[in-house]
Amino acid sequence: MNQEQTSTMNYIVEQISIKNQLHSKKITKNLAKFDEAYFKRANDFLKRYATLLQNEGKTLDYSIDCYLQMIADVNYESVQFLQTGEYTSKSFDEVNQRVYNNPSVMEYYMHGLLLSQFLWTHHYDILLYFNKIINQNAAHINNYLEVGGGHGLYISEAIGIIGDKANYDLVDISKSSLEIAKKMISNDKVNYMLTDVFEYFPENKYDFITMGEVLEHVEDPVSLLKKLHTLLSENGKLYITTPTNAPAIDHIYLFKNADDIRKVIHEAGFNIENEFCIYSEDMPVEKAEKYKVSMMYAGVLTKK
Ligand SMILES: C[S@@+](CC[C@H](N)C(=O)[O-])C[C@H]1O[C@@H](n2cnc3c(N)ncnc32)[C@H](O)[C@@H]1O
Repeated sequence: MNQEQTSTMNYIVEQISIKNQLHSKKITKNLAKFDEAYFKRANDFLKRYATLLQNEGKTLDYSIDCYLQMIADVNYESVQFLQTGEYTSKSFDEVNQRVYNNPSVMEYYMHGLLLSQFLWTHHYDILLYFNKIINQNAAHINNYLEVGGGHGLYISEAIGIIGDKANYDLVDISKSSLEIAKKMISNDKVNYMLTDVFEYFPENKYDFITMGEVLEHVEDPVSLLKKLHTLLSENGKLYITTPTNAPAIDHIYLFKNADDIRKVIHEAGFNIENEFCIYSEDMPVEKAEKYKVSMMYAGVLTKK
């Protein structure tokens, strides 16, 4: 790979190593696993992202600080999780007040989460899987919904693949998320809806719904999936991701393994057409299970 392709990423790693040396070791290890295609893609993203930041008088340093603030939260939540075996948040109201309705928290959280899509191997692999699924289904997608789009990277990738032929709706409960997503998505075809998905009653059904990392944010994941069932057309597809054993400031429902997730999917009336699971650490599965290492689950679901 050439110098231009690695330079921005090198800068990010350099800054992380100055501000959090321990964490930089993990990131350096992650980057060593990536190929040339990754660096090209990450660089394209970072160029676009830097412009977005610049328009607000910010630089990548701002985003790096957001990312490290998110890492500090994750570290704190992880200690609590290892001590109690539970997530610290128990109710939706608590998280709504603590996170979604708290602009300063949402601001660093969403910018941090956005950078993690390129700094964490399992997040990047999930992004590649999502791209593959959208490519496979693009020809049949005319009415697209994303629930809990957060930073907006996923819907912006979907638009890049599906193009202008589709209608795009984005529902998020957080004003801060929608504001960040609007800047991330350079397409005026997207309709933004500030609402709890449980209170969303559109006239039309969707032929593709994406919901990344939201299922663990509710008290009752079966009722959330049942709600999405009502929004999906008969032959439509629902793409979800959700992690196991992943303590975070806004996680409520604890999935302990992939079977816990499959159980709620089936209970809500869906079949699993395709799935992809990846641990956040590179280690043998038995060890990862034993030490409750977080795993990301991605699934393509169809109505039973
Ligand atoms: C962790 S972020 C996920 C961002 C992105 N989808 C991803 O996969 O990286 C969760 C997002 O879901 C939104 N959210 C959580 N509960 C929601 C609900 N009941 N209705 C709509 N949005 C919700 C939050 O505001 C936040 O933007």
